[in-house]
Amino acid sequence: MQGYRQDLAYIHDVGFTDFARNAAPGLLNILKRKHVADGLVVDLGCGSGRWTAQLIRAGYHVWGVDQSRAMIRLARGNAPRSKFKIGSLLRVELPRCDAVTSTGECLNYTFDERNSHAALLRLFRRVYRALRPGGVFVFDIAEPSRIPKTPERKWTEGRGWAILVHIEGNRSQKFLRRRIVTFRKLGSSYRRTCETHSLRLYRAQDLIRMLDRCGFRARQLSGYGSFRFPPGIAGVLAAKP
Ligand SMILES: C[S@@+](CC[C@H](N)C(=O)[O-])C[C@H]1O[C@@H](n2cnc3c(N)ncnc32)[C@H](O)[C@@H]1O
Repeated sequence: MQGYRQDLAYIHDVGFTDFARNAAPGLLNILKRKHVADGLVVDLGCGSGRWTAQLIRAGYHVWGVDQSRAMIRLARGNAPRSKFKIGSLLRVELPRCDAVTSTGECLNYTFDERNSHAALLRLFRRVYRALRPGGVFVFDIAEPSRIPKTPERKWTEGRGWAILVHIEGNRSQKFLRRRIVTFRKLGSSYRRTCETHSLRLYRAQDLIRMLDRCGFRARQLSGYGSFRFPPGIAGVLAAKP
């Protein structure tokens, strides 16, 4: 299953990159405080490359990975000096690096149907092996509290586009589903597309225990610097000793 096809990738890039933009100053500060002032950052689920572009501006090299061909096409335009790969973050081989980031609940999506605690544990081990000693892994994830009490419908529009989202989930099964309908103006008409995104929800504390088992020293974050996470999102900072 592929997600973020052409129109949703475009709409995400023009209308929904606030999270990446607001997170950037705090994330850069975390890297600096952890003495990762330069070198290679691997960005898992890089999307359209807005965070990647900030890293490049701050002097890092970046290798971005995303399963969406459309997102990577946008990322190549937004951050032309980075390297990108189309593929699943749960399967790609990681290069030797100084930091690994993943912003915007990328570790929750089930576009790769392997997504599970076991697959994340394998990913954490690969990240640990790829990082140099002193390197850091920073990410945010959606927790079960991300599920609304009753199903929600949201509507957002911008110049030449509109998006409708129906959100529902099951707390005991720890999943969230977003049914997304997009309209994008092409010439004098609008193209309608649909995508369904399923997210497997994880508790940050469970992932922190898994990271510790891999050798990391991990702790929970309530934001990236002064940028506080919205309800149901938690951050994790894991350092390789
Ligand atoms: C909400 S977007 C966030 C994008 C970007 N990190 C940001 O903060 O703007 C989630 C991204 O994760 C990517 N993604 C989800 N599951 C993935 C997987 N298994 N492998 C690679 N990319 C994945 C999606 O294609 C999408 O670009």
